[in-house]
Amino acid sequence: MKTTPQQLLLAWYHTHGRHDLPWRTTNDPYRIYLSEIMLQQTQVKTVLERFYFPFLEKFSTFNEVACAEVDDVLKMWEGLGYYTRARNLHAAARACQGILPATAQELMTLPGIGRSTAHAIAAFAYREALPILDANVKRILHRYYALGERDEKQLWGYAYDLFDKQHPFEYNQAMMDLGSLVCVGKQPKCDECPFGKHCKGRAEPLRYPMAKVTKPKPIRVRDIILFEREGKFALAQRKERFLSGLWGFAQYEKGSWGYHSHYLGHITQHYSHFTLEADCYHETHNDPQEEFEWFSLEEIGRLSLSRADHKVLQWIHPKEKD
Ligand code: ADE
Repeated sequence: MKTTPQQLLLAWYHTHGRHDLPWRTTNDPYRIYLSEIMLQQTQVKTVLERFYFPFLEKFSTFNEVACAEVDDVLKMWEGLGYYTRARNLHAAARACQGILPATAQELMTLPGIGRSTAHAIAAFAYREALPILDANVKRILHRYYALGERDEKQLWGYAYDLFDKQHPFEYNQAMMDLGSLVCVGKQPKCDECPFGKHCKGRAEPLRYPMAKVTKPKPIRVRDIILFEREGKFALAQRKERFLSGLWGFAQYEKGSWGYHSHYLGHITQHYSHFTLEADCYHETHNDPQEEFEWFSLEEIGRLSLSRADHKVLQWIHPKEKD
């Protein structure tokens, strides 16, 4: 009998897969779900080395997330980025009262869980026979079927075509590993690929998908003002999408704060979708016009701040006691 591409993939996974990743050696849906959310926009290494275990140390069950304040969840997310993920995790925990639903269909109704993530959680935690379609899998499918541009719906069709419904856990984990170890974006290692001649794009893998033109990141030029009043500093919780929920000092368009505050220095901070270039000032005479909350340095230490605001903190030190 002929060996199928799915059998080849599973054999490869058996030998080369990353079997010891902690979210692959547990059946706890919460631990699997947490990993999928953390891994949505972040590399395995970062999640593994810095965020996954401390988060579970603090919130060992989903119910503990539901009972926590959102700020405490954000605090454990500090530095990981895309803070909407943490807010959604908390909202989801509250919505289902700390008990994760047991089907992809229901998981998809929770905030922050799209179709592919729901399929991943259901396949890994409950062995539900559903394929995933993340960026890695899309790239593999484009190459495997030698596809030009395809929309999401069409790609789901291909995802189901290649899927091995007898082995949802191994197949999906294997596709993730293949996408991050072999069928990588720039220099795919086709010689090491278990699909071998089954892959229609093998002769010219870089043609699939078509190279995207990457737009340069916009630069935000701002002034950051540290308002200080009786040893307390003005901060507000950010509402914009990328830093949503994090606390930060006042930020204005360059030049729009009209007073000559004391200059502290310049910071550059690269974010995923923009670069921030900011001059920072200390202002002890004039109050901000907007609403802020006021915190001592010690209290600031307990808030979740963006990286830029952390950098700003370097310029203020507690006054020496006499
Ligand atoms: N990225 C997203 N989910 C993953 C998983 N389960 N293993 C490795 N990388 C992943």
